[in-house]
Amino acid sequence: MNIILLGPPGAGKGTQATRLVAERGMVQLSTGDMLRAARKSGTPVGNRVAAVMDAGELVSDEIVSDLIGEALDLMGPNQGAIFDGYPRTAAQAESLDAILAARGRSLDHVIELEVDEDALVDRITGRFTCAQCGTGYHDRFKQPKVADTCDVCGAHEFKRRPDDNAETVRTRMAEYRAKTAPILPIYEARGLVSRVDGMADMDSVSAQIEAILDR
Ligand code: AP5
Ligand code: MG
Repeated sequence: MNIILLGPPGAGKGTQATRLVAERGMVQLSTGDMLRAARKSGTPVGNRVAAVMDAGELVSDEIVSDLIGEALDLMGPNQGAIFDGYPRTAAQAESLDAILAARGRSLDHVIELEVDEDALVDRITGRFTCAQCGTGYHDRFKQPKVADTCDVCGAHEFKRRPDDNAETVRTRMAEYRAKTAPILPIYEARGLVSRVDGMADMDSVSAQIEAILDR
């Protein structure tokens, strides 16, 4: 099964993808995570995209589609993909069709996380992750069980994303409204879209997604 999680910054795409990886053995393909990894290791692509990401704008369609194709090629034929943060433009949606078809895959579901944009700034500015294993936390909604200690790997160091500030979040939301939301009708016309209430608590969002995948 191959699915897209679609929603604005902070909607919970990464949170829900991580849960599906644990529950169903699917593979999370987050272009945001791939680009951050490229930056961290200082690859030519990473250096090219850094300023664009920090401004909250979209990097080029070609770069992200290449990353997605490469990542799919590393997956087992029976593993399902969760596209998280991709596609984000009509051109990327078109590329994804070609990328999947070339690998004998197709899309099963496009799940839109419906959220109230006003709440997202809070979600994003409160977000932090374990510097060692990447587990996600939030100042108010999900603190580590033991203060300053990662629940999963026990590390004591945490980090915040440079684009997680109120100003950049507004640009990211505007990019979503202008370039990403308009791709929904493409998938709607193909009968692929289901909507979940992304404002519900994390467990009930997961339950809504599981119900769609089990249909
Ligand atoms: P990317 O990394 O994809 O960021 P984004 O789309 O802005 O989304 P986020 O990762 O911020 O949010 P999320 O939906 O994953 O939310 P999360 O689960 O963490 O992209 C970053 C940048 O890379 C882009 O701006 C662009 O420059 C570039 N880029 C990436 N892909 C690209 C592409 N395809 N094309 C071009 N450029 C691209 O949740 C957020 C917080 O809320 C967390 O703290 C979490 O704990 C909390 N939370 C989650 N769910 C709930 C809930 N139900 N209730 C309460 N709190 C919750
Ligand atoms: Mg994310």
